[in-house]
Amino acid sequence: MGKSAEKKQIVLIGAPGSGKGTQALRMVKDLGYKHISTGDLLRSEVAKGSSLGKKVKSVLDSGDLVSDELVLDLLKANCDFGSAKFVFDGYPRNLKQAQAFDKEVISGHSFYVLYFKINENELVERLTSRRTCSNCKKIYNLKSLPPKKAGICDDCGTATLEQRSDDKEEVVKNRVNVYLSTVKPVLDYYKEKKVLKEIDASLEIDFIYKEVLKILELK
Ligand code: AP5
Ligand code: MG
Repeated sequence: MGKSAEKKQIVLIGAPGSGKGTQALRMVKDLGYKHISTGDLLRSEVAKGSSLGKKVKSVLDSGDLVSDELVLDLLKANCDFGSAKFVFDGYPRNLKQAQAFDKEVISGHSFYVLYFKINENELVERLTSRRTCSNCKKIYNLKSLPPKKAGICDDCGTATLEQRSDDKEEVVKNRVNVYLSTVKPVLDYYKEKKVLKEIDASLEIDFIYKEVLKILELK
């Protein structure tokens, strides 16, 4: 580790398909971070068939955002800091969420916001060919990062690779538009606070991870 070995909390901001989940899982595996993805939390409520899951399923399937209050409650219920360092993936997504996050979740902790910048044109192809292991959550891509044996997860060995229901082309396009219509004030807000670090998310996965380590001063 480099000169500043103190790990900070991390917030990942980036378009659908920009690689937030991919890099977060790497930070979990190599650096011991805990991963909180609001998308994963919401999908797990849908899979459980909870009353919350029933309420949000149609919103997720349309690619729109779930209500700010509901997502904040879910986040707080799953985020007990103690000595843990978290990587927040997919929250905050609009200015109201950023303000609530600073006041009610991350307050008192030092953190970096990593902004995964990418041209929207690359995202539809990345997302329509994504597959995720429903058992261990490892993320694949049928074109650029396929499993060694078709349909079988390399890590947990089970045949559970699934396509997300919001990874259909029309829904991806809406998700990208929703992102573009809400992200700018969030970026400005964190730029002003001098915690925003920009990363070129069109590069290769390993290269991006090295950039992340440099920013975090862990390499
Ligand atoms: P969420 O699950 O957060 O989805 P998202 O933001 O649309 O992002 P993705 O998970 O699709 O992409 P990613 O950046 O994680 O990319 P990944 O690493 O998988 O949210 C889903 C929904 O939940 C929202 O639409 C909304 O309805 C709701 N929601 C969530 N949070 C909310 C909030 N705060 N408020 C309100 N509603 C909320 O990579 C994608 C693919 O690309 C993979 O196949 C991967 O292998 C590949 N890939 C990754 N990196 C690279 C690379 N560098 N080069 C080439 N391929 C790469
Ligand atoms: Mg993700």
